[in-house]
Formats: sequence, structure tokens, C-alpha cells
Amino acid sequence: PVSTDGLHAKLPFPFGAAVNVNLIRNNAQYRNLVAKEMNSITAENAMKPAALHPSKDLYVWNDADYLVEFAKQSGKRVHGHTLIWHQSLPAWLENYNGTPAEFEQIFKTHIQTIVSHFKGKVASWDVVNEAFENEGGTLRNSVWRRILGDDYIARAFQYAHEADPAALLFYNDYGHEYGPTKRNAIINLVNSLKARGIPIHGIGMQMHTRYNQSDANLTAAITTAASTGLKVHISELDISMNPEKTQGIMLTPATAQLQATRYKFIVKAYNGIPKEQQFGITTWNVTDGDSWVPGFNGAPDWPLPFDKNYQPKPAYQGIIEGV
Ligand code: XIL
Repeated sequence: PVSTDGLHAKLPFPFGAAVNVNLIRNNAQYRNLVAKEMNSITAENAMKPAALHPSKDLYVWNDADYLVEFAKQSGKRVHGHTLIWHQSLPAWLENYNGTPAEFEQIFKTHIQTIVSHFKGKVASWDVVNEAFENEGGTLRNSVWRRILGDDYIARAFQYAHEADPAALLFYNDYGHEYGPTKRNAIINLVNSLKARGIPIHGIGMQMHTRYNQSDANLTAAITTAASTGLKVHISELDISMNPEKTQGIMLTPATAQLQATRYKFIVKAYNGIPKEQQFGITTWNVTDGDSWVPGFNGAPDWPLPFDKNYQPKPAYQGIIEGV
């Protein structure tokens, strides 16, 4: 059964986190915190191509199935992440050099095998992740685009929809809050898929952001995504308190408070979009102790609402105050 006293219970939309399967398995404090505070989970890595599809004829389900079972036992939604991405690819896909026709078949089978395996258990998917370059509005030259052409994105949605017509299908990316160039490129893609009748139901904005991102950029990201009329998922939220990557600094009560005001601002803006478009908010990781940010940035950081001792931070209260 779903917990009734956690953070999610204080919010009018689903609230969750990206979780690490090994920590769910082996760390009771972590597992109990997720069980109590969240009603939605995303696999941090366990549903990526490298994990599920390590070689052409081999799919490995153990970790992902374990998460799905944990979610079932504790009454949580599972959001699937991610079918098609340029990263976390097994070498055989990343270095593929057969014919486009063969690769199209591999692409279709990859998507449909995974979606079918989780049919009835995973009701939503990030179908394509990060198709655009870091900045600017051009498509990345991933192996998918190089061999299959720009329209691989539309076909990925069609193939996923064939495998599970009931699943909600998302386009997920980051940088909506960087400014208009990348944001508009993403929104134009999504709107054009919609206009063509491609089965797309949601837009995921990762929102790996920083304490000093402007109110205007955060608001524009959220309201522009909502303007598509699709469901909006803040899919990978974390707020860096050290985007300058300074070594040897610590989180102070004052900076923790500043972080709370940023979480509150984002939740408030999100809560302002129409109810039926609120798919939910997911943080990327659970506590400051398991956040990917310090490793990625190579600098200390505290991006999440829980500290490394599994205790709520001021950001936790900020999230509640946002609604
Ligand atoms: C990250 C994980 O957190 C890391 O453990 C892994 O090494 C790389 O991927 N955008 C995404 C996520 O869509 O899948 C990424 O997750 C973070 C950035």
C-alpha cells in the first residue's frame, strides 16, 4: 500500500525520484525513505539500453523487474527511462555499422521488446531522450540519427505505441530553462510530432538546474512546455548549490535556505499549469549522498531535498510551501 504521511501526500501531483536498484536492495534507510516519501519512481540506470539490452539477442531484466516489484509492493507508479538515447548504449549499438534496413529492424525490436516486457507495469516512457545538442537547436548526431535519419524520433514513438497503445509516451530533454534557442527547438519538435498525429503524450523537462537560474527562465521553461497541451513532467529535478564547482566548500544554513526558496519557486510555477497536464515532479536521485551531481561536476554539491543522513533539508519544506 502507498504511504499516507510522506512528501507526496502533501502535493496535488505525483512526486518521485530516480532510484538506484542496489540501494533499494541493500540499504534499508534508503528504501524506507523512498517507500515513505514518494509515490512515483524512475530507474536511475536500470532501464537504459546498456542495462536492458547488452547484446543483440540478450535482454537482462533482473534489476528492472526488481524495481517494478518494489514499486508494486509499495504502491508506486514506475516511469520508464529511457528507450532511445545517445548515452548508456551498449557497445554493439553505439558502434553499429550494418545497413539502415537492418538497423531499423534492430531499433524497432529494441523498443517493442522492452515496452512489451513492461506492459501493464510501466504505464509511461521516455521514448527519446536528449535528441538535441547541448546548446542550440540542432539534432545530435547519435548513432540513431546517423543511420536512421532525423525522423527516427517519430518512428520511435510509433513503434512504442504499437507495443503498448495504453502507455503515455514522452519526449525528454534538458535545457528548457537555458533560454529560448534550445527550448524553442524542443517545443517545435514536439508540436510538429503532435500535428502529424504521432502518438506523443508528454514532454519531460529534466531541469538539472542551479540555485542562481533566473525566475524568468524557470517560468518560461514550464509555461512553454505547458503551451503544447501535453502532459508535463519535471523529470530529473536537482538544484546545484555549487555550479561554480568550487572545491572545499560546504552547505551553510543560509545556502540551504536559498535552495528551499528555489524548490518552492519551481513547485509553485509547476502547480500553476492546468491540473490535467501535471504528470508530476521527479528528483534525480534521492539524497545528497547518492546524487549524481558531485561526481559529474567533480565538486561538492547538495542538490536534493534530503541530506546524506536521509534527513529532510529546508528544501523539503520549500516543496510543501510551493503548493
Ligand atoms: C545519469 C545517471 O545518474 C548516472 O548514474 C549515469 O552514470 C549517467 O546517467 N540525464 C538523463 C539521465 O537523462 O539518464 C542521466 O542519469 C543524467 C542526465
